[in-house]
Amino acid sequence: MRIRDTRVASFGAVFGREPAVVASAPGRVNLIGEHTDYNDGFVLPFAIPQRTRVQLAGRDDDVVRLATSREPGLVQLRLGELEPRATTSWSSYPAGVLWALAEAGHPVRGVDLLVDGDVPAGAGLSSSAALETATALALDQLWQLGLDRVELARLARAAENRFVGIPCGIMDQMAALLCAAGHALLLDTRSLTHRQLPLDLTEAGLTVLVVDSGVRHELRSSEYGLRLASCRRAAAKLGLDALRDLDEASLTAALDRLTDPVDQRRVRHVVTENARVLAVADRLEAGQLRAIGPLLTSSHESLRDDYQVACPELDTAVDSAVAAGALGARLTGAGFGGSAIALVEQSNAEAVAAAVRSGFAAAGFGSPWIYPVVASAGAAVER
Ligand code: GLA
Repeated sequence: MRIRDTRVASFGAVFGREPAVVASAPGRVNLIGEHTDYNDGFVLPFAIPQRTRVQLAGRDDDVVRLATSREPGLVQLRLGELEPRATTSWSSYPAGVLWALAEAGHPVRGVDLLVDGDVPAGAGLSSSAALETATALALDQLWQLGLDRVELARLARAAENRFVGIPCGIMDQMAALLCAAGHALLLDTRSLTHRQLPLDLTEAGLTVLVVDSGVRHELRSSEYGLRLASCRRAAAKLGLDALRDLDEASLTAALDRLTDPVDQRRVRHVVTENARVLAVADRLEAGQLRAIGPLLTSSHESLRDDYQVACPELDTAVDSAVAAGALGARLTGAGFGGSAIALVEQSNAEAVAAAVRSGFAAAGFGSPWIYPVVASAGAAVER
């Protein structure tokens, strides 16, 4: 891999021609259903307005040139040199999608590709899935592969798991590709069946605030892998394919059969979280948006106490928001830093944001970045 210094301005300025395809994909917040996707469980994410855009043009050779507006430089490599886990830089995500397509037997050629957009990186809002899925959708369009969105999500996840080397579930890739404006996506991560549930926050006089804690934990992927291993171990011990197969009625008996107290906590989180997702889904379907608040806060408590993926900044965000009248609040995404969300009355949004800022200041944390989001559109081919 060679790296050349080039200030990125536009596709034309970098590559000396026009892009053949432009596609974009959103970041997401997960309304509820955390650390359930790699247990074959339920999740309920929605797309946020921030998007990653991929512009590309095909080549007749096997050269791949990758550029991003966020960093100077051009990454150049050959298809035959695509090597899993060689790097975890931004370029490994689009490179991983090319690799995953080739692995799946699709005809892959060289491309010139430019990334830009405004999904914050490292904030727990799935900037990597946005990049992978925008790339996958753009390549599908360029080469007319005719892949459906579920297939694209699987390929994008394979890129992240096997090429980049991050053991994520499939929630984020499915969210980026399948979410719809004004809706949350109820996804069964076992069957990959999904349903759009109405989430018109604006009409209900509500908003979701994202509180970006500013904490970027390197620990994240190793701690994530430990949680995943714990869940697999517990499922095997209970003779189950996945923790999804356990419900609240059989939870106490199952916990008695597990001797490891850490595994017991992890299992309790996953089982109760799956039940909370379905309870939130019922309320959304009944149009009772305000009624989901307490379930969001219970989810945070379970992630904090049983799954142990919160951190003082995320706890402060949730506690201050709830104390200032938020209907509910929780960390979103993998945890260990990144962002929390708070469901608030529009009329109270400023007061909640101010309370969270004061909470951070009182605890001696750096100032969080707080902004409202609404349920936005999924990935799209723009040109
Ligand atoms: C990350 C992963 C997802 C999911 C969440 C936790 O975002 O990419 O697959 O496991 O963490 O719910």
